[in-house]
Amino acid sequence: MFDSRVLTMVLKICTSAMAFWEGAEVHASLIKRGLDFDAYVKCALMNFYGRCWGVGSANEIFNEVSIREDLLWNEAVLVNLRNEQWAKAFELFRELQFSFARAYSRTIVKLLQACGKVGALNEGKQIHGYVLKFAMDSNLLISNSLISMYSRNSKLGLARTVFDSMKDRDLSSWNSMISSYTALGCAKDAWDLFNQMDSSNVKPDIITWNCLLSCNFLHGSHTETLTVLHRMQSLGFRPNASSVSSVLQAVTELEYLKYGEEIHGYIIRNGLDYDVYVGTSLIDMYVKNDCLDSARKTFDNVKNRNVVAWNSLISGYSFKGLFDDAKMLLNQMKEEGIEPDLVTWNSLVTGYSIWGDRQHFISLVN
Ligand SMILES: *[C@@H]1O[C@H](CO)[C@@H](O)[C@H](O)[C@H]1NC(C)=O
Repeated sequence: MFDSRVLTMVLKICTSAMAFWEGAEVHASLIKRGLDFDAYVKCALMNFYGRCWGVGSANEIFNEVSIREDLLWNEAVLVNLRNEQWAKAFELFRELQFSFARAYSRTIVKLLQACGKVGALNEGKQIHGYVLKFAMDSNLLISNSLISMYSRNSKLGLARTVFDSMKDRDLSSWNSMISSYTALGCAKDAWDLFNQMDSSNVKPDIITWNCLLSCNFLHGSHTETLTVLHRMQSLGFRPNASSVSSVLQAVTELEYLKYGEEIHGYIIRNGLDYDVYVGTSLIDMYVKNDCLDSARKTFDNVKNRNVVAWNSLISGYSFKGLFDDAKMLLNQMKEEGIEPDLVTWNSLVTGYSIWGDRQHFISLVN
């Protein structure tokens, strides 16, 4: 006779191997023998059905269970979350409360993430209520998730209330709150909080800095960006590819070419020009500032060019009406084994129509 641990393991193997029929056979033979399984086996069964037969079958297993331990309730919620059955997961969470079962902290975290993702503010508030009722707010992961949930629902005030009420805060708490402000363009609040953080015993990391850099982009205070870049460097942080990309995006938006060239120098001095994302942001900047020569030079230096880099330059030529250059690039791209995508064709078609090149337009569409 199988014991529960072995059975759980067998079902887990069936799940990861996507062994539809084998797992179902194990289940059937258990039912035939009239065995009652413990919560671990039931969980493994739910997971198996959820993964291999769809979340509906997992919910059926759950419905058939008469005595539902906390473990099972939590697993039922999680299986539905994993399968993006948001409404069903929230419904199960409500039923869980009526059944006097207890939600685990990891379930709460996942539920809050879902509320942020799908904009379920009311459900999020109910979960917040649950967290307070069971004093789960001392759990940092949960409080940080509450901050993100409110921020993703654009409720900065509520996010801040959670932040202010925390007795302990770790780096992610600060980063969650700062990124909430930067994501919604509240530069001043972000900086105030950053200064507060600086005088606390938690020190910023690269994530914090990158938040602040992206904040300047949204806020348009481009002259400050270089200051931030220098400041982070003087504190020993090496701006990485995503730091530089957000600075470049700012410069591109603002068509502030001289500043962009300074950043380019910075990128070369710090060896960041090998990164394809940085390279693409540079090309984009030059294209949008009408400097096709510089764009081309940068393009030629980028290693492992992806389709985005090609598209950037092709659209630059095409919008300027330089169709020969654009087509040469298109051929070169194909020769290097990069397939043009919808964006490539789109930029060519748009270019032809801007310049009224009917003949090219028609031959391309054909
Ligand atoms: C740069 O830092 C960010 C944190 O903001 C991180 O997510 C990203 O992976 C880093 N990128 C590289 C290329 O190291």
